[in-house]
Amino acid sequence: MSGPPLIVTIDGPSGSGKSTISRLLAHRLKATYLDTGAMYRAVGLAAQRQGLDLDDQEAVAGLLEALDLDLSPGEEDTRVLLNGEDVSLAIRTPEMGMMASRVSAIGVVRQRLTRLQRELAKNQPVVAEGRDTGTVVFPQAAHKFYLVATPEERARRRTAQLAEKGIAADYQDILGQIVERDRQDSTRPLAPLQPASEAVRIDSSVLSIDQVVDLMLTTINHP
Ligand code: DC
Repeated sequence: MSGPPLIVTIDGPSGSGKSTISRLLAHRLKATYLDTGAMYRAVGLAAQRQGLDLDDQEAVAGLLEALDLDLSPGEEDTRVLLNGEDVSLAIRTPEMGMMASRVSAIGVVRQRLTRLQRELAKNQPVVAEGRDTGTVVFPQAAHKFYLVATPEERARRRTAQLAEKGIAADYQDILGQIVERDRQDSTRPLAPLQPASEAVRIDSSVLSIDQVVDLMLTTINHP
């Protein structure tokens, strides 16, 4: 009997290990990795390039209307095409993280991207990661996880990740941004960062990446 394709959601704050873990889990489950944060980052980049006033609802609606987003899972990060241009690297800066967080508080942006995310999961199994994938985008998901880690551990990881990409970053600045982004993402009225009531909570500060993936596979009951 074949039902709708499998959906696994992994939500949590930035730097909690979601991307690496989601990618590995998707690989093990032969599912597509759906990086919803990359979509918000791409919209943030488009808004910044146009010098858009985020309080101008008409301008934001115009931007969304003209928006052409194409995502494909890449070797490392998700490959993102914005109006045909590869912006995969440009969206990864801490500045774009903050921009993404700001545009993600706008209702029409969330509606548009939520629709796109649901479409992508219609015909293929997915592991979706973000802030609201288990609560809002895919409330029907078969398995939901909520990843946490201390802000200090997350800042340490983020600084190292950026250094690997050749992006210079200061630990204290990153820590400050993480705390601010957590506050913005979890206090906004629309789809705030919060665990779905049935989500399995995992603290990735005390486990290795492989241990987290194994724990998830055990929970999903996948051999
Ligand atoms: O996961 P990330 O750091 O790439 O996400 C960037 C921002 O996008 C994050 O601060 C909040 C927003 N976001 C969101 O509101 N909902 C999602 N499902 C994913 C990301």
